[in-house]
This record gives sequence, structure tokens and C-alpha cells, in this order.
Amino acid sequence: MVEAANVPHARRVLELGPGTGAFTHAIKDCLPRTANYLGIEMNERFVETLQQRFPGFDFAAAAAQEFDFDSYLPVGEAFDAIVSGLPWTAFPESLQKDILDHVMKRLVPGGCFATFAYWGFHKLPGGRHFCELLKRQPGRLRMTAVVWGNVPPAFVYVVQRDR
Ligand SMILES: C[S@@+](CC[C@H](N)C(=O)[O-])C[C@H]1O[C@@H](n2cnc3c(N)ncnc32)[C@H](O)[C@@H]1O
Repeated sequence: MVEAANVPHARRVLELGPGTGAFTHAIKDCLPRTANYLGIEMNERFVETLQQRFPGFDFAAAAAQEFDFDSYLPVGEAFDAIVSGLPWTAFPESLQKDILDHVMKRLVPGGCFATFAYWGFHKLPGGRHFCELLKRQPGRLRMTAVVWGNVPPAFVYVVQRDR
């Protein structure tokens, strides 16, 4: 996920739904020292734990589709990488669209959005709809190879925004 989103070369990273911090830990391991991190997580108890576990990282207890980016980002700034742990296929179609519409415009030209999908679930209606939304983003969509050792097997969708 972090390689697919090009986190090792990012100046500003956004994580959606960091939860208990599995991806956050991987991000911390490869994020450049001078880079900034923001995690948006709607579960306040997770946010409290994340703040203790990752000092120096910013966390907001908020819904990704509602977060006020203008009050967080310096004028003219956007994210180089967005890493998402959100359960997209479980979301209603309208929420998938609301979140993507809200966050993708905060990605710099050439920046990468990465999210995972469980193999098989991506063929269910919610998974197909999400993939269609990704195809409509202004950028190039690719899928990584399936990681069969993951339980359940999963792959990563990457959208690189047009420059
Ligand atoms: C599958 S879990 C995250 C897994 C994560 N990688 C971990 O290590 O725990 C999804 C997370 O997204 C959060 N979430 C769900 N909907 C959200 C939303 N609209 N905005 C922000 N966070 C959300 C949930 O509270 C949950 O913690």
C-alpha cells in the first residue's frame, strides 16, 4: 500500500480510516522525516490511541467526507499520497462517491491514491461500483497483483492523478 502510494517520496500524506494503525505504522517506517501526515478516523477511541502511538502525526476524529481540509492545509497545499483503509465495498454507493469527491481534489497532480480490495468482493455490486468511480477519476487506474498470502487475498487499486 505505502509503496503503491509512493509514500517514501511524499511531502504530505493523508490516511483515511487508520483504525488501529497497521498502515500508519508502515507509513511511519518509510515517510521522509520532514513530511507531514494526517489521519482521518471517525472512531474517537481509535484516534486517542493513534495519537499516543504516533506522536508528531496529526489525527482528526471526523468523517472523511466531511473533513474541513481548508482549515488544515496551508493555502495552495495538497497531499502527495492518499492511503485508504476504508471498507469501500461495505459503503452505500452515495457514500463512496461523497468520500472520493471530497478527497481526490486534495491530491496534487501526479499524486497517488491507494486502497485495497479483497479478491472476489471486488466483483460484488458495491465493489464494481467503487471500481467504476475510480475509473472516472482524472488519472490512471491500475491494480497490483493479488497477494494470495493475505487472508483473505487482496490487491491494491492505485490512481495516479493526471499531471
Ligand atoms: C478496516 S478499518 C481500518 C483498518 C486499519 N488499516 C487498521 O489497521 O486498523 C476501517 C476504519 O475506517 C474507519 N471509518 C469508516 N468510515 C469512515 C469514514 N467515513 N471516515 C473516516 N473513517 C472511517 C473505521 O472507524 C475503521 O477504523
